[in-house]
Amino acid sequence: MVSRIQTSIPGLDKLIQGGLPKSSITLVSGTPGTGKSILCAQILYHNALQGKKCLYLNLEQNEGRLESQMQQFGWKPEKLKNLKIIGVDSSDPNLVEYILKEIQKTRYDLIVLDSLDSISSNPLTLEEVNQKSLQQIAEFTIPTMLDSPTIGRLKLKKIFSAIAKSKATALLTSEKVEGTEGFSRDTISEFLCDGIVLLNYVEIGITDYRSLIVRKLRNSNHTKDVVPFNITNKGIEIIKKQKND
Ligand SMILES: Nc1ncnc2c1ncn2[C@@H]1O[C@H](COP(=O)(O)OP(=O)(O)OP(=O)(O)O)[C@@H](O)[C@H]1O
Ligand SMILES: [Mg+2]
Repeated sequence: MVSRIQTSIPGLDKLIQGGLPKSSITLVSGTPGTGKSILCAQILYHNALQGKKCLYLNLEQNEGRLESQMQQFGWKPEKLKNLKIIGVDSSDPNLVEYILKEIQKTRYDLIVLDSLDSISSNPLTLEEVNQKSLQQIAEFTIPTMLDSPTIGRLKLKKIFSAIAKSKATALLTSEKVEGTEGFSRDTISEFLCDGIVLLNYVEIGITDYRSLIVRKLRNSNHTKDVVPFNITNKGIEIIKKQKND
């Protein structure tokens, strides 16, 4: 039997056989404002409350923004010693090395990396190439001869493989580019991950509708339905199905 990490999102676990498979990597995809960061923070916080060792690598929002977003839902991340939130400067030329070090430093149960786009869209600079040893450069197969998206993807592969090695369960966010078929800006994360949760948001008149689709979840008999949800002052909640639905 596959062991699982509960999401503790009200109504979600029963739709995915009890939770995310332990040590799986799930891509949380969606256009801006669909709730990617809230979903990840909620899962992480509730696992931290249960004593799991949790890490949130925040590459997107300014220092303190994520924490205040969490506080508005009544969550108190500052009270949990086993929950580490790190604001990472995505313009740091040693970004990948920094992230790899953090992942390897401690045996985490759950890791959120928000977002992959800050890594893939920030490929190796010339300055960075100069700083690297020849051996490191060889790992990138002569980066100066590769185009930027390829370098970005190579960086992501390194991160995926470090997470897999760490055995942590991970949630990685990426922006879904409107009008395209893919689930990530980099176009390879959807193939490297074990699961994909796609978040949608539409506004019709004064009403807005949020929903999620579990597009893949290896080792799981997961729902194939479009699952409507709300964001309330307690965070994300799946809307219960009416009996006649
Ligand atoms: N207390 C709240 N009640 C209801 N909705 C909220 C609340 N707080 C935030 N939201 C909604 O959640 C959205 C932000 O969610 P979140 O930051 O998780 O999105 P995201 O997908 O990570 O966006 P981005 O791609 O810009 O990082 C807001 O735009 C708002 O619509
Ligand atoms: Mg976000």
